[in-house]
Amino acid sequence: MIIIGGDKQGMKKDYIDTSDFTKEEILDIVDLGLLMKRNIKAGYPLNVLYHKTLAMIFEQTSTRTRMSFETAMTQLGGHAQYLAPGQIQLGKHESYYDSAKVMSRLADIMMARVQKHETIVNLAKNADIPVINGMSDYNHPTQEMGDLTTMFEHLPEGKKIEDCKVVFVGDATQVCASLMMIVTKMGGHFVHFGPKGFQLNEDFQKIAEENCKVSGGTFLVTDDEESVVGADFIYTDVWYGLYEAELSEEERKGIFYPKYQVDMEMMDKAGKNCKFMHCLPATRGEEVTDEVMDSDRSIAFDEAENRLTSIRALLVYFMGKADEAKEICKKNLGE
Ligand code: CP
Repeated sequence: MIIIGGDKQGMKKDYIDTSDFTKEEILDIVDLGLLMKRNIKAGYPLNVLYHKTLAMIFEQTSTRTRMSFETAMTQLGGHAQYLAPGQIQLGKHESYYDSAKVMSRLADIMMARVQKHETIVNLAKNADIPVINGMSDYNHPTQEMGDLTTMFEHLPEGKKIEDCKVVFVGDATQVCASLMMIVTKMGGHFVHFGPKGFQLNEDFQKIAEENCKVSGGTFLVTDDEESVVGADFIYTDVWYGLYEAELSEEERKGIFYPKYQVDMEMMDKAGKNCKFMHCLPATRGEEVTDEVMDSDRSIAFDEAENRLTSIRALLVYFMGKADEAKEICKKNLGE
C-alpha cells in the first residue's frame, strides 16, 4: 500500500533524505519501481504524468541522473525542462525563495543537483511543489533507491536484504554515506573499509547507529582489509571528491592505492558470489580494475539502468499517482 495519502493527504512531500522515510515507505517505492519496470519492458504505456512538467536544476554535470529523470518523464507522458547552470536566474539574479515560488507556478515537480545541501533544503522549504534531491555534498538519495533496487534484483540465493553484508571500499563520498543510510535502514550489515581521514565521520556514524537500533542492522568503519570477507556486495566510488579541493593523482594514489582498489583478488577474498557495484562514472584503473568492471560479477550497468527504474517510481510517488500507476500496471500485466 502506498503511504502517501492517508493522514498526509494534501501535503506536499519532498525527497531530500531517506532518513525522513520509514523502511516500509522505501520498500513501497522500490516495489512500485519494479512493477513499473515490468510494465514498460512489456511495452505497455503508462501515461500517469500526462501533461506534467518536471523542472530539472543542475548545478553540476550529470549523465545518469539527468537522463533518468528526462527519460522517465517522457515514458510517463510528461515533459522535463533542463535548467542548466548559467542559463537560469537562480542564485545569481534571483533568490532561492523567489525561484522556488516561480517554478512552483510553472512546473508540477522539481529536482535539483546542487553544490550545497542547504540549497536543496531551501528550495524544498519554499517550493509549493514536490522537490527531489538529485545529489548534494551531503547525500545522493535517488542513487540509494536505484542501488537498493539493484540489490533486490541480485539478492544471493536464500538471503533477504537483512542478511546481506555490503562493503563500501574507499573514500567517504556522499554515495558512501547514502549507501550506509539505506543499508542500515533496511537492517543489512554495512561496512565502510577506507583509510583513516577518509572514513565516514561521526555524524554519519550516529545516523548508522540510530538506524541499526530500529532495524537490527550493523555497521563498521575500518581500515582492516579482512573486513571484505563474506561481503555479498562490494561497492566503490571515485577517489576524488566532487566538492572538496581535489587531490592530485599522485596524492590520491598515495592514499588509496593499492589497498583500496577493487581488483579480482579483493572480490575473491570477499567470496565467490560477491557482486561488484559502482554508482558510476568510474575511473577505471584507479578505484576499480577493468577486469572487475567487465566481469560477470559486476552489476554496475544494471545499477545505472535502475536509476531510471527508481526515478520513475519517485516521480510517480511524489506526484501522488502511485495507486493509479499500480492499478494500470497490474491490469496490463495480469498480476
Ligand atoms: N551516479 C550518478 O549520479 O551519475 P551522474 O553523475 O552521471 O548523474
